[in-house]
Amino acid sequence: MAILVTGGAGFIGSHTVVELQQAGEDVVILDNLSNADERVLGRLKAITGKDALFYKGDIRDRKILAEIFEKEKITSVIHFAGLKAVGESVEKPWEYYDNNITGTLTLIDEMRRHGVKNIIFSSSSTVYGDPDAVPVTEESPKKACTNPYGWTKSMLEQILSDVQKADPEWNVVLLRYFNPIGAHKSGTIGENPNGIPNNLMPYITQVAVGKLKELNVFGNDYDTPDGTGVRDYIHVVDLAKGHVCALKKLAPGSGLSVYNLGTGTGYSVLDIVKNFEEATGVKIPYVIKPRRADDIACNYASPARAEKELGWKAENGIREMCEDSWRWQKNNPNGYAD
Ligand code: NAD
Ligand code: UFG
Repeated sequence: MAILVTGGAGFIGSHTVVELQQAGEDVVILDNLSNADERVLGRLKAITGKDALFYKGDIRDRKILAEIFEKEKITSVIHFAGLKAVGESVEKPWEYYDNNITGTLTLIDEMRRHGVKNIIFSSSSTVYGDPDAVPVTEESPKKACTNPYGWTKSMLEQILSDVQKADPEWNVVLLRYFNPIGAHKSGTIGENPNGIPNNLMPYITQVAVGKLKELNVFGNDYDTPDGTGVRDYIHVVDLAKGHVCALKKLAPGSGLSVYNLGTGTGYSVLDIVKNFEEATGVKIPYVIKPRRADDIACNYASPARAEKELGWKAENGIREMCEDSWRWQKNNPNGYAD
């Protein structure tokens, strides 16, 4: 019996594979390597001592999905595979809708054809749009998204909810991640963005390692304590553990469940810079730039439901997040390349 992890070679997927294997689960990975490096597999084995069965392929490819469901004894799917760059999704909406939506529709069709009706889906705090009040709970309204990437998450939540409603044999967990950063303590796996990073922490670590000159802080005139944007950063290992806890919600009759995975604490961009400098001793030069299009001022989670129902709570604080992001970047300035 095994768990199929789509996108399992990626940032959050690889950390989740570690936690699953360490919890005694057998893992099968399906990843087309569009945003991952196959060398992560050797690193995973070095951490856990276990092999994950790897299929290189696409979630839109029915043949490979059928092969996996026929050959492997899959009980549940943790579905990370997807494209995730907000700006790119505005440039290439068709590619995002095709990859994320067609891909997920194909996956769930092959799942039901093979009688596998348990899925954990990677959603995002982006479905809350610009929230009226923080912290957001799972009952906070979903709002209009500002980019095709966000819409894929919002629409896929709806699609999975409707599929579950029509066929109660399905058990569906929607996990709304806040802002994952950090890396495994070993410093051997971590986030490995292509090109210039879009997200804050990988940008900071690339400044720290000397690949980029300075951080651009996008706006210091928001209605926040220091004027810079506030987010709920969560250690990727805590996030990964949230998936292991969420497996219990795939028991027969569980139905549809929705959880925020965040820490409940908001940090501003300048808080992150300061904490990173304190944790690592490396100075991060920065310049204030205009606001980034469609950015929101502030969002952080109420993680109370996940704690109550899953017994899950983030354990790492901002210092560990900074230390662990830095260890990964410092030890692997070129990602998995050397
Ligand atoms: P990632 O890009 O590192 O991982 C995604 C993986 O999916 C990659 O390894 C990629 O090669 C693979 N993939 C993409 N399209 C595929 C396809 N059609 N078939 C097979 N494999 C495919 O991203 P991540 O940060 O690990 O994110 C994982 C999931 O979590 C994504 O669905 C993402 O949208 C979601 N999410 C991420 C964040 C974040 O800030 N990192 C926040 C909220 C939600
Ligand atoms: N920021 C900078 N400079 C940078 C990068 C980011 O100042 O170079 C600021 C942003 O303006 C924002 C904060 O840092 O205030 C965080 O920005 P990120 O891009 O790291 O994260 P976002 O919250 O904007 O978005 C990310 C993902 C989304 C996802 C969301 C919630 O990109 O896809 O987290 O999970 F939906």
